[in-house]
Parts: sequence; structure tokens; C-alpha cells
Amino acid sequence: RFVAVGAVPELTSRFRGREVLDAGGGLAVPGLVDSHTPPVFLGTREGEFEQRIGGRSYVEIAAAGGGIRSSLEGVRGSTEHLLLAALLPRLDRFLQLGTTTIEAKTGYGLTVADELKGLDVIAAANQAHAVELVATCLGAHDVPPEFNGRPDDWIEIVCEELWPAAATKAAFADVFTESHVFGLDASRRLMESAREHGLGIRMHVDQLTSLGGAELAAELGASSADHLEHVSEHGIAALADRGVQPVLCPLVPLFLGEAQEAPARRMIDAGCAPALSTDFNPGSCYCMSLFEVMSWAALRYRMSAAEALTGTTLNAACTLGLGHELGSVEVGKRADLVLTDLPNHSHLTYELGRNPVQKVIKGGAVVR
Ligand code: NIG
Repeated sequence: RFVAVGAVPELTSRFRGREVLDAGGGLAVPGLVDSHTPPVFLGTREGEFEQRIGGRSYVEIAAAGGGIRSSLEGVRGSTEHLLLAALLPRLDRFLQLGTTTIEAKTGYGLTVADELKGLDVIAAANQAHAVELVATCLGAHDVPPEFNGRPDDWIEIVCEELWPAAATKAAFADVFTESHVFGLDASRRLMESAREHGLGIRMHVDQLTSLGGAELAAELGASSADHLEHVSEHGIAALADRGVQPVLCPLVPLFLGEAQEAPARRMIDAGCAPALSTDFNPGSCYCMSLFEVMSWAALRYRMSAAEALTGTTLNAACTLGLGHELGSVEVGKRADLVLTDLPNHSHLTYELGRNPVQKVIKGGAVVR
């Protein structure tokens, strides 16, 4: 943990370091926190990317059997061991890019057993790797194909079987609230049930259409309302009013070829405290760099470098209920720190396409 923060002369007069790390004049920032990513999957979906470049939409591709459902086979057909072997190198890359904590969602199993397997993989990765993972069960990511035409049966299984079992392995439950997946009534039922079983709630809302998901997340007092590209003014006011934090994923519309971007400035003006995340996943964003996210948030959302850094550190930690432990360099907090070669914090957003990380410290240990 950090025991003191201050200028070098003051600190050296009070402490003698067992080991000295010289950042060489580079910028040091808190360990970055990625508050939205489903990283447990096998196989990538670059073919869909090419199709979108050719003009097809994310929803059209999903309706034709692609999308989330096309990632199910990889998870269902794999052992825990194989999924862990796919996840660990991804965590290496997160760490290389200065990310020391991620919120890790399941969501590509969509049977009770396969979702629980995903949570076990996340727990095993937490033991094996320096990156800290906070587990979310995204059992309501989609209606599995076996439940075509009878989504209520899947919702029943999620509420009665999955959430109770997941509650011992995950901190949060999550739902994809969208017109082609779970509507408002279904989402309310899923999230109320998750909460009854002791899970915190996070929600994918208003990503592709303006359904009123933000209003629902506010009504339920969710820990986060994620995406929000199509949020209404009323939805923004509701989030601000209830203190529900937006988690914005600025690379996703870019990756999906969707024109509409989240109105981040209006959210900040309304008093919201947005987090920024990669949403690293095989379908809607194959990028793990929060530095890329910060630059894009500046260019498209008009967020300052300081706002972008807050979004990838303290605000992100707060959505995970870890704001008292992570996300800033303060006495008593866990010593997660990233040493970069950047000359000042404006370079966080100004530089594109380069990894400025020199050293990564997690819980006081140099891990990279
Ligand atoms: O956050 N929106 C839902 N889930 C992911 C997409 C997952 C996928 O396409 O595989 C997201 O963007």
C-alpha cells in the first residue's frame, strides 16, 4: 500500500527505500482499471469485422447467426483448462498496457454449467496472474439458440438456477438490455432476481437503440449503466439523479461502424462520473488498450486528458465498489502504479498508437 505521497526531498528525509525505482522524469499514473470486458472466449470474429466494413450491421450479422451466439461453441466445447490458457496471454497484454484491474464478464457460455465454468476460469486466472479480476456473470448476454421462441424459459433458468449458483463466484450480474435481446420487463425481472440473490448489478443499456435502459438502470440503482450511445436526455438526468455511473466504451461504435456515440459531455455536465473502458471482446471491440480509449474519448467525446485518466482509474474503480482501494495514488490505497515515458499527462490523450508503459507495479510489487 502507499505509505506516503509527496515531493522527493520530503519523502527521502522521512524514509529510506529498500529499493528505488527511478521513473526518469516520466509520468506515473495509478494502475489502470478496465471496468467492462468479457475476456473469456475461444476464437475470434474477424470475418464479421470484414462484413461490417462491407456495409452489414452488427444486428444484421447477429440475426443471420453471427454475433454473440457464434462465440458460444468455443466456450461450450472447451475445458476450463483450455479457456484459462486462452485468457492468460490476454491478461499479459492488459498488464503490458498498464491495466492492473479488469472487470471480467462471462457471457459466451449461456448454459448454467458453461457460465459457471467461465466464472471458475476467472477465479483461476485471478490466482495465477498479477492482473486483478472482478467477476461478473453475464448469463443474460443473449437468449441461447436452444431457447429460440421461448426466451422466458431461459430467463426462468437464469433467475432460478444461474444467479443463485453464480452468487458464490461473482460480484455482479449483467444483462444486455436491447430490443433484439432482453427488453425492459425481462431486464427488470433478471436484475431484481440477481439482486435478491446477493449479486451487484451492471447493465448494457441504450447501446444500439433508445429503449429506456438508462432509466431502468437508474430505477434499479445499478452499479453501472454501460454503453449509452442512444441514451435520452431523460435517461441522463435519471442516471445523474440516482448517482448511477455510466461506463462508456468509445471504441465500440468505431469498431461496429455505428455513427452514434455516447453523449459523454452532456453526462458530465449533468453531474455523472463516467468510467471509460475498452469492452475488449471478440465481436464489438478487439482492443485492450486503455491508452487508445483515452485518446478516442478526447477526440470524440471532448474529454480532457484529466477526465480521461479519471475515467480509466478512479471512476472505473468506483463502478466496481473499489474506489476506496484502487484508482488513485493516496496513502492507504493499494500500491498499483504505472510508470510511463510520457512527459506530462496531456500526452495520455495526445499520443496515438504507442504503448508508453515502462514499468507496472501491482500491490507494491513490480510485475512488468
Ligand atoms: O458489450 N453488447 C453486448 N456485448 C458485447 C458484445 C459482444 C459480442 O458481440 O460478442 C458488448 O459490446
